[in-house]
Amino acid sequence: MAAALVMNNIQISSGIFRMTVQSGMGGRPGQFYMLRSKNASPLLSRPISIFNVEEDRVQFLYQVVGEGTKRLAGLRPGDEIGIEGPLGNGFPEPSGQMAFVGGGIGIAPFYYALKQWPGADIYLGFSREAYLVQEFERLSSRVIVDVGGFITDRIDLSSYDQVWVCGPQPMMLAMQRLNASSGNTGKVYVSMENRMACGIGACLVCSIRTSGGRRKSCADGPIFPVEEVVFE
Ligand SMILES: Cc1cc2nc3c(=O)[nH]c(=O)nc-3n(C[C@H](O)[C@H](O)[C@H](O)COP(=O)(O)OP(=O)(O)OC[C@H]3O[C@@H](n4cnc5c(N)ncnc54)[C@H](O)[C@@H]3O)c2cc1C
Ligand code: FES
Repeated sequence: MAAALVMNNIQISSGIFRMTVQSGMGGRPGQFYMLRSKNASPLLSRPISIFNVEEDRVQFLYQVVGEGTKRLAGLRPGDEIGIEGPLGNGFPEPSGQMAFVGGGIGIAPFYYALKQWPGADIYLGFSREAYLVQEFERLSSRVIVDVGGFITDRIDLSSYDQVWVCGPQPMMLAMQRLNASSGNTGKVYVSMENRMACGIGACLVCSIRTSGGRRKSCADGPIFPVEEVVFE
């Protein structure tokens, strides 16, 4: 695991932080890094998606949920952070009319995705409080926001050639059902953000069930065609 410098680490909403790290390692939308506060035990490396890449910087958007992310939130500019990445397969090549669907902190991969494909429509769903909507509006003329409802109710899959999804499991399950009922199998891709330990395919902690057998979410994913995932 390499060491990098934290440039800033700003709280942008309740329990939500955006951290900029000096690193030239870049990556593609849908890939992630394993991050570890240098003050934490080695067991606390945590997978966090790429939110943005700019020159020699990588940005992350994360929600504080437990010890690992709490320690990340305690980092200050100039602190060292352990980083390993970019990891995972990332989203596939985009084609035609694209839509990105993010639920809660699952909006994270789509800022960088939208920077690269500004013609995409973006759906942002939040359970309580919306954040970063203006930043997304600067990148796309079609930003659909839902607070408190189901963002999946707002999308018509027949309008799109490819749809990328990241969010809580019930939302991805809803997308799977929508995809099956629309008969458009093969165009919806989901980011499986299940628990990870090593992040590089060595421990099997992240194993998920798919129609092709068990797969490692870190090394074979985290992006899978939605119809292949068996949600448990
Ligand atoms: C490929 C990938 C990309 C991710 N990208 C982001 C991102 O960009 N921003 C972000 O905020 N989070 C992201 N996550 C989730 C993030 O890794 C977890 O929230 C983090 O590992 C929790 O660590 P912790 O030590 O703070 O909490 P823990 O103490 O480990 O857990 C606290 C609570 O959160 C639950 N939890 C922990 N991990 C997950 C998880 N992966 N999914 C659902 N519930 C979980 C636990 O069951 C527990 O209830 C990503 C996960 C993966 C696998
Ligand atoms: S996290 Fe260890 S194999 Fe995926």
